[in-house]
Amino acid sequence: MPRLNPKSTVTLHDDVSSPFSEAYRNLKINLDFAAVGLTVSIATIAVTSAAPGEGKTTTALQLAAAYARGGKNVLLVDGDIRKPSLHVLAGRGGRAGLTDYLADPNTVLFDVVHDSPLEGMSVMAAGTPVPNPSDLLASERLDSLLQELKRRYDVVVIDTPPVLGAIDAKIVAAKCDGVLFVVEGGKVKRDAAKKALDELNQVKARILGATLTKVHRKDAQKYPYYS
Ligand SMILES: Nc1ncnc2c1ncn2[C@@H]1O[C@H](COP(=O)(O)OP(=O)(O)OP(=O)(O)O)[C@@H](O)[C@H]1O
Ligand SMILES: [Mg+2]
Repeated sequence: MPRLNPKSTVTLHDDVSSPFSEAYRNLKINLDFAAVGLTVSIATIAVTSAAPGEGKTTTALQLAAAYARGGKNVLLVDGDIRKPSLHVLAGRGGRAGLTDYLADPNTVLFDVVHDSPLEGMSVMAAGTPVPNPSDLLASERLDSLLQELKRRYDVVVIDTPPVLGAIDAKIVAAKCDGVLFVVEGGKVKRDAAKKALDELNQVKARILGATLTKVHRKDAQKYPYYS
């Protein structure tokens, strides 16, 4: 992914002809190819990385937006309960989300799915802060939620915290159809990336591919498969 303005993590980039938007469109196409030949369909995609700040949230949002602009019915879920950010897309009243649904059996999808400014893309915020995010994510209610979401949406993209440090991302990744692994270009910490991939493999997460973020244009040729 090319570099973008550092302040624009949770911003929809309306200029669909920019290299930035094009890079995420290409990522979507690459993911679609990664799914070809698999015996299961890939509808729920977790986005994660080894360490904080590598570009997971940006990637999840722009990937979901690329699917929506391509005509898919998309839900973007904020699965980073400890450090939520996607609620800003849902505007006022959009704070109820994933934790509320998981913690309270009386909550229905309608309460926690919000419109975003982009047609075709809905958002589920992380929800009310809870002391036990991993327990909630490990609960069967997340499995049934994901099944329900697959019936309602073409694609569900889930932003998660970093793999190293807490178990949350591994739980979500293992429950999704596939995982997109984000690696910050330029300062790839190979050991950390390898450890995180090992941990994802241990929980039998299906890794669809990796994407390098924050790549300077002049460095792009160093990465023949960068997107
Ligand atoms: N392709 C990119 N080019 C340049 N900067 C980027 C790119 N993607 C993300 N960033 C910047 O990197 C910073 C971290 O991005 P982001 O919040 O998406 O990472 P994250 O992995 O979700 O972080 P955290 O682990 O804290 O949740 C932000 O300032 C964001 O604007
Ligand atoms: Mg994030």
